[in-house]
Amino acid sequence: MEIKNSAWITVSQDTGDICPVFRKRFATEKKIEKAELQITALGVYHAEINGRRVSDYVLAPGWTSYDHRLQVQTYDVTAMLQKENDLRVTVGRGWFRSPMPGWMNSEDKQRRLNQPCGLIAFLYICYADGAEETVSTDESWQWAKSQILFSEIYDGETCDARITPTDWQPVKPLEWSNDILIPQEGEAIRETERVAAKRIFKTPQGDTVVDFGQEVTGYAEITLNARAGDEVLFDHAEVQDKDGNWYNENYRGAKARAKYICRDGWQTWHPQLTFFGFRYIRLLSWPGEAKPENFTAIAVHSDMKRTGWLKSGSAELNQLFSNIVWGQRGNFLDVPTDCPQRDERLGWTGDAQVFIKTASYLFDTERFFKKWLRDMAADQRKNGEVGQVIPDVMPEGESSAAWGDAAVICPWQVYQTYGDKGVLEDQFDCMRGWVDFITAITQTPELWTGHFHFGDWLGLDAPSGSYKGSSREDFIASAFYAHSTELVVKAGKLLGKDVYAYEKLHQQIVAAFRKAFPVYETQTEHVLAVHFGLAENPQKTADALAEMVKADGVQLRTGFVGTPYILHALSNYGHADLAWSLVLRREYPGWLYPTAKGATTIWEHWDGIKPDGSFWSKDMNSFNHYSYGAVADWVFEQAAGIQHAENKPGFEELIYVPHPDARLGWLQAKLDTRRGTVSALWVCQEDGIRYELETPVRAKVCLNGKETWVNPGKYTFWTEK
Ligand code: BGC
Repeated sequence: MEIKNSAWITVSQDTGDICPVFRKRFATEKKIEKAELQITALGVYHAEINGRRVSDYVLAPGWTSYDHRLQVQTYDVTAMLQKENDLRVTVGRGWFRSPMPGWMNSEDKQRRLNQPCGLIAFLYICYADGAEETVSTDESWQWAKSQILFSEIYDGETCDARITPTDWQPVKPLEWSNDILIPQEGEAIRETERVAAKRIFKTPQGDTVVDFGQEVTGYAEITLNARAGDEVLFDHAEVQDKDGNWYNENYRGAKARAKYICRDGWQTWHPQLTFFGFRYIRLLSWPGEAKPENFTAIAVHSDMKRTGWLKSGSAELNQLFSNIVWGQRGNFLDVPTDCPQRDERLGWTGDAQVFIKTASYLFDTERFFKKWLRDMAADQRKNGEVGQVIPDVMPEGESSAAWGDAAVICPWQVYQTYGDKGVLEDQFDCMRGWVDFITAITQTPELWTGHFHFGDWLGLDAPSGSYKGSSREDFIASAFYAHSTELVVKAGKLLGKDVYAYEKLHQQIVAAFRKAFPVYETQTEHVLAVHFGLAENPQKTADALAEMVKADGVQLRTGFVGTPYILHALSNYGHADLAWSLVLRREYPGWLYPTAKGATTIWEHWDGIKPDGSFWSKDMNSFNHYSYGAVADWVFEQAAGIQHAENKPGFEELIYVPHPDARLGWLQAKLDTRRGTVSALWVCQEDGIRYELETPVRAKVCLNGKETWVNPGKYTFWTEK
């Protein structure tokens, strides 16, 4: 990349909160054949040539492990150049100079906050006559204060449209590494949908609130006719309180405010260098009367291709499917995050691990995860430890079982869904390093005991006042130790590595586990024992789990660790009915409870809003947390029946094993795999069940206890009642 020979530039004096704009004017003499801009920044940037944005990429350069890797974007700008050109780049704090995480202070956070803003660019011009010219960042560039008076990840943005940058000054060279520059790896971040405001209403307390009817991650765009100096000020919220009043205490320290000082006339504006998670905005200041047509919510996220669709005869279930998709869209903004609204928005490893299979079915996430996993490898600590969040902006945080295991589970899942071993090659050292870390720090060889853990986070069997479910931490940690070791063995074998020692280790962990934990005490413990192949008699354990679920009133007691697998553990051992009962439960705790309460995304807590309308504590109550949306992988694989064998990754061959349930009438799933589109439908009729399957590959059809192989094609099957 030629940009590696350019120089970093920065401002010559501190601008405080104001975002600087850099500019370079240059002339071109002849007809241009091709012009290409390579550019990146320390911060997030917005680049224009002659007043036009160079690309629809927003929040570039995205979020990576900046000490090691900084993405460079390359834009074709051939059509934008004229004789006289003005290239301008506004740079905001973004993730680079962010106060993440919002709730705690650390040396590392101070270091980040004090980092300089910087820009580096390289423009290549090739003329029709073959002559070449380049424009690079250097001391000939200038900078000025931009209209953006403030922009920050948690607190929002302030723009004064009356300002035209005037006081142009020479830039300063910046000492910064060019070695960290890498080509764009992830998906571009784009505006992907515009959601019109549904209504404007006054709350009982007198606030004027705009409702978009859907929680989105992105920003609100305003269009209005105003006089210079008129002020628009609004904040953001996900829900209303039980009396219909404004509520955003769950944003905690994140102010999430947008402020705009108008110029004269009709104008349209939205924040440019930050984002918000919201369904509502409250107008704290607005000139004149606000109408719905003044407002549009714009969804912003990694622009992944949609690949999976679910639809059923149940409107509530369809709403849940929609919520899962919006949950992914709202939290796949370059990094898989826990939430988009409060003073967090971090790449929590555990959450990503829980949701990755669903994510990889609903959207093509191969590029997205490959990039994030490389950041994980870059941030992996010397002893193999993997931080709680990636990019690791909490280097002081200890890793936890089921969180650090993302290092192994995520690459394996990417390989399983898409079938390309490349991700395992990329990540193998990181995967193995994680297992070696556990081996080195455990207090009991062949198990993982001791150490800090998040446990079965948010488990419903948590003792009062705790976020951690009752499942034993050593149990969970040892189970994941076994699972990750097993995956390292599988990956290593595929890559032709010598993994004999890990194979032995895995056998030893399983034996030690069985000895140490002869009894399973909680739902999650049963689930892990079955799902990770640790139970000596999985059928008996799954049966016991089913009994336990029934004894608990056909209710979940699981948290982050148990929930993604519980339905699989049940339906794989003959308890699909019970799994469906859990899925279709409308009361708390159940997947359809939040939808009954009006959710448009997945909640962090089953009872984020309690049956009486009051809230779970404001400290930890996100209404856009994708984790429990992991149920969708069960719907694809078990309910609709679209599966593949582990040794046929990327759906090289299909296993069709549906689990219909008359309560929803019918279910249709469509999945665009690397081998083509699989479509599966079942319809419960009075006298039996009709199945329609379209498969692009050979498929093993498992119906009525029988297995038949079919070739690619379209099939209808029937089972009598
Ligand atoms: C996040 C979670 C995360 C957890 C770690 C929370 O604050 O939102 O989703 O995994 O912390 O326990």
